[in-house]
Amino acid sequence: MTAAPQNTPGDTPDAVLFVVSAYVLSTRSLNRLESAAVAATDLPARLIRLEDTGPNLIKALDQFRAEGKRHIRVQPLGYPFPETLLNWLPGVLADWRQRGDNADTHITLGADALSDPAQLSAAAAAALAPPAAARSVAGTKPRLGKPGWTDPPDFDFHLLLCTGPRCAVHGAASAIHLLKEELQAAGVAKRCLITQTACVYPCNRGPVLVLYPHGHWYHLPDRPTIRRFVREVLLEGGRADDLRFYTTRRGRAGAERGDAPPPRF
Ligand code: FES
Repeated sequence: MTAAPQNTPGDTPDAVLFVVSAYVLSTRSLNRLESAAVAATDLPARLIRLEDTGPNLIKALDQFRAEGKRHIRVQPLGYPFPETLLNWLPGVLADWRQRGDNADTHITLGADALSDPAQLSAAAAAALAPPAAARSVAGTKPRLGKPGWTDPPDFDFHLLLCTGPRCAVHGAASAIHLLKEELQAAGVAKRCLITQTACVYPCNRGPVLVLYPHGHWYHLPDRPTIRRFVREVLLEGGRADDLRFYTTRRGRAGAERGDAPPPRF
């Protein structure tokens, strides 16, 4: 029996997975960053972001492995990269290695190159260098936002789906699409405001959905649970207790007082 390779620093990887933490990056900026990152190495390389939608960390590792890669360098990229995520990544990568046959795949985790103040200064200086890249705002109409950013949309329920990095590992990226599809199929999509959030704390229960005005928190890992949530909670006014893992203090107090049950469609 061949011993599983240990994660020994210094080995040469056969693929690079760049990881960024960047909620507000547009698709265009993300594509540009990926092109630049991929061009920086001769190895097969790919870039993902740890939160929001798009391929998640686990799927990207699975894909490299399916392509025969057995030493993957996971390289954080950031300005600088968030420390909480750097502390979290080794554990989740080790967790991936113990799934299925993945133990035969070697993973090394790169350092955050831009945590060094000298390199940050160099990046800032490089940003300031080309004067042609700066444009004047003289002549631009002053405004803080578009007219459409004044009024909230009219909706019945507010669904907050966490797409933070840990929920993304648990499948939040696909959960958001599945949720939209199920709301559409139930004919209530326009009456729900969906907001993608950053981490709301109970990461181990991801993907996490918070429903207001009810104040209930749900664990919705797949299409069947999302379909049940839409039907049993939103349409029928139930609570789907086996999917619900928390209710806010105010929601619990209301239930104890015997307040009217939360609304339904
Ligand atoms: S990342 Fe979703 S609860 Fe933490």
